[in-house]
Amino acid sequence: MKRITIAIDGYSSCGKSTMAKDLAREIGYIYIDSGAMYRAVTLYALENGLFGSEGIDTEKLKQAIPNIQISFQLNPETQRPVTYLNGKLVEDRIRSMEVSSHVSPIAALDFVREALVKQQQEMGKAKGIVMDGRDIGTVVFPDAELKIFVTASAEIRAQRRYDELKAKGQEASFEEILSNVKERDYIDQNRAVSPLRQAEDALLLDNSNLTIEEQKQWLAEQYQRVIHG
Ligand code: DC
Repeated sequence: MKRITIAIDGYSSCGKSTMAKDLAREIGYIYIDSGAMYRAVTLYALENGLFGSEGIDTEKLKQAIPNIQISFQLNPETQRPVTYLNGKLVEDRIRSMEVSSHVSPIAALDFVREALVKQQQEMGKAKGIVMDGRDIGTVVFPDAELKIFVTASAEIRAQRRYDELKAKGQEASFEEILSNVKERDYIDQNRAVSPLRQAEDALLLDNSNLTIEEQKQWLAEQYQRVIHG
């Protein structure tokens, strides 16, 4: 069977990773959550005091980049990939509100993007990969055979993230999450380096009114169409 590259981009908290992960598991592809990589760099910066009152200490972060090792391993119980930062499991910590509210300025730094894009391209060299993020179809894998751009209303996305945090027993305020979602949309779309945009050859999926099952089905059909087309 032909192996392809699948790029799934879109707004934050729109269910991209759920559908990308499930598809990868079903078709035996590697799944990479590129947002987790930006989040891991952000956690590193927070833990090492690189956020000061005057913003990010970009010089120190630039020096540290070669020493920031990000990897993914399958959790044997859930069979889902979890994120490691320099050998430490950080999956829960990178999803915290603290990281969510600091990640956009980190993801806007050109030297951070350059380093992570290089690693992402390396991971996808052999194809057979599903990667989700913001610039996968436009920058990381412009030649991907299947590109999807996912969107949903900000309120629906905030509600999903709220439910997710609550389910994990974490404190959450809907209003705070909604303003974080809107702020990240703005920064993601307006940053100078690799702003979020739909690739010309990407298929648009608005999943505001779709169940997880329905969007899974839709994605599986797109995959079949490309494989057999
Ligand atoms: O998908 P997410 O919410 O976990 O992404 C976290 C942040 O990283 C988000 O603010 C956008 C940024 N990001 C990016 O700039 N490029 C990517 N390929 C993936 C995420």
